[in-house]
Amino acid sequence: MKHIRNFSIIAHIDHGKSTLADRFIQYCGGLSDREMDAQVLDSMDIERERGITIKAQTAALRYKARDGQVYNLNLIDTPGHVDFSYEVSRSLSACEGALLVVDASQGVEAQTVANCYTALDLGVEVVPVLNKIDLPAAEPERVCEEIEDIIGIEATDAVRASAKSGIGIEDILETVVQKIPAPEGNPDGPLKALIVDSWFDNYVGVVMLVRVVDGVLRPKDKILFMSTQAQHLCEQVGVFTPKSESRTELRAGEVGFIIAGIKELKSAKVGDTLTLVNNPASEALPGFKEAKSQVFAGLYPVESHDYDALRDALEKLQLNDAALNFEPEVSQALGFGFRCGFLGLLHLEIVQERLEREYDMDLITTAPTVVYEVVMKDGEQIEVENPSKLPDLGKIQEIREPIITSTILVPQDYVGAVMTLCNQKRGVQRNMQYMGRQVMLTYDMPMNEVVMDFFDKLKSTSRGYASLDYEFKEFQPSDLVKLDIMVNGEKVDALSLIVHRSTSVYRGRELASKMRELIPRQMFDIAVQATIGSHIIARETIKALRKNVLAKCYGGDITRKKKLLEKQKAGKKRMKQVGNVEIPQAAFLAILQVS
Ligand code: GTP
Repeated sequence: MKHIRNFSIIAHIDHGKSTLADRFIQYCGGLSDREMDAQVLDSMDIERERGITIKAQTAALRYKARDGQVYNLNLIDTPGHVDFSYEVSRSLSACEGALLVVDASQGVEAQTVANCYTALDLGVEVVPVLNKIDLPAAEPERVCEEIEDIIGIEATDAVRASAKSGIGIEDILETVVQKIPAPEGNPDGPLKALIVDSWFDNYVGVVMLVRVVDGVLRPKDKILFMSTQAQHLCEQVGVFTPKSESRTELRAGEVGFIIAGIKELKSAKVGDTLTLVNNPASEALPGFKEAKSQVFAGLYPVESHDYDALRDALEKLQLNDAALNFEPEVSQALGFGFRCGFLGLLHLEIVQERLEREYDMDLITTAPTVVYEVVMKDGEQIEVENPSKLPDLGKIQEIREPIITSTILVPQDYVGAVMTLCNQKRGVQRNMQYMGRQVMLTYDMPMNEVVMDFFDKLKSTSRGYASLDYEFKEFQPSDLVKLDIMVNGEKVDALSLIVHRSTSVYRGRELASKMRELIPRQMFDIAVQATIGSHIIARETIKALRKNVLAKCYGGDITRKKKLLEKQKAGKKRMKQVGNVEIPQAAFLAILQVS
């Protein structure tokens, strides 16, 4: 165990984590150059295109250190985005150390800070690394100071590296060996292995990534899941180099995978402890909290006969994404669909994109919403995750909305603008701290304001410099109302929203006028009204238009005519017929454009 080091990389998006991980793999000879297809750790297609690491993966590296000894370095990849902070914490709890990679031309960002604090809380050794020192704009000295000021760890000796040009790679690996402690644990004790991650593989079923804390695990061992008491036969163990390689055993201190013929991801819960049926551990390792859906949206097929296909696709996605929840939902306007729960907005976007790209679904997505706690006058308490399901205000005692604590790091020049934005979004300032050139603002904010478009606004008011991290704090009573949109006198349930009373009239007006822009003119006048209860607060009219595409055909060219009809049909995609009006996808998300 002396020669094992388990570590993660904490980095803000784009600071170079994947590039660095690839360098490690290359340096340690895990893959030939030919196999190093761009960035190997980010294995999913979408990840490669967006450049975001989604699913934690791992690589076991063999490194010959300067002391002549060979060390086994286990790199556990962590996702960098705020939606996936829960995955970060579980990756970190399998490690003794973490490299904090900071872009030397940018500096420390909010998510990095949050992840570092998580690491320090878990007792993980944090080792700073300055990346991108090849850039002319790099300011390693300033960034070192920033790390010391903001995170509070010693950074003067931080390795200066460039993942891109390959500078400092060996120095980093050497620091890993020297600064990060070797794992402790009892190889002779009863097995205790923590499930760090699990996913579904089409060929072998569920694969579990585990950190063995005590004991040894071998194929043919009968394993016991401590939370469910389920038993399975261990079929295969191994490590990722990052290719999968079978091993004869996984010992205390090691990180590797287990395959045990499990068909459902639900049975291999991340955070659960594995032990052996024959020699069980007396207690489980400290578990994780389950990832809870924070953001909800309705997903509806454009063509109603695609409903079954959508359900199949969601089921398949769920095999690989235990954080995705869904249940059937019926909307008067949109028909049969699903209400889905996500970790955050990025998670929603990724799911939506995978459904469209990998499963070829045409979807209508309703505006994202948070979950509300509603206390009824008769004392009953319900959770509302779909605005159109909010009971009549007359029957409601109290509505409580989720509040988050957000941490924003922003250069001093933009503090004023960011504070104004936070106030607009009903934020309550909790703290403000100058840290070198940056300021750390802490605000309590209603989550429903944040799921709208807070992040984009934050970026635009700070020219992209501000960074945000948030966590759920509590539910708080709030003066909320339901805003409905009526199209030609009919309420469109999928367009209902829950908003704060203070902004409801303004938002209603803005929304109605946005609808006028977004809903295409049709053969008749369309009235769009925004209402709160029985009050109409805004009205817009979409004037009729006689749209006759065939008029352009000048006479009889039939192929031309067909083409035009074809084109018109394609243009209809992502439109939903609601009553006699066609409403495009964009209209369902119009609220995101209303501040
Ligand atoms: P996520 O996967 O989104 O979390 O990002 P990441 O932190 O893994 O960043 P990634 O490795 O994808 O790098 C982001 C960008 O920075 C890429 O365009 C890299 O080529 C570039 N980059 C990474 N390291 C260096 C470096 O040392 N110098 C320079 N100049 N560019 C770098």
